[in-house]
Amino acid sequence: MSSTDDIRLTGDPVLQEVCEPVENVEDVRELAESMLETMYEAEGCGLAAPQVGVPKRLVVIDCGWGSGEKTPYVLINPEIIEVSDETRVTGEGCLSFPGVTVEVERPRRVVVHAMNLDGDVMRYEADGTLMAVCLQHEIDHLDGKTLLDHLGPMARMRVKRQVQEAIEAGAKPGDVSNPASRS
Ligand code: NI
Repeated sequence: MSSTDDIRLTGDPVLQEVCEPVENVEDVRELAESMLETMYEAEGCGLAAPQVGVPKRLVVIDCGWGSGEKTPYVLINPEIIEVSDETRVTGEGCLSFPGVTVEVERPRRVVVHAMNLDGDVMRYEADGTLMAVCLQHEIDHLDGKTLLDHLGPMARMRVKRQVQEAIEAGAKPGDVSNPASRS
């Protein structure tokens, strides 16, 4: 079982690995369930397997549970099939970057194909929503990319410093602002 204490933080080499495809859905069923628990515990809306130290192409997402009902998605070997030319900038957090929010520009619309735990290939389409951001953010993790890879050199240095300060001030995965700067 994973817990929020097992979430790997930026700087951990597993977050830079290109993850291996999942060959057998049954092999990741327990992992997926434990990742969902960890994600809900950390109040995140997505979590990728490398964030719990497993370099496999598996992510869990639930962008709506803050509003009440849980709608968990498990995406195995997800692939981005289509993106829009039109982009959108939003503030993104990441459970591996406690205490910071980073402005990231991404395609506004995305279409993803992925297998679910029943072994069916599902199609996900999202446009201008948190889900559109989350799908792209989590799939980035499977290719060894994080928020830092969307930043120029100066912003990258700044965010690295901010996250370090936030961790030293006691920020935990799921925190979106530095505890030292909270009122
Ligand atoms: Ni993340």
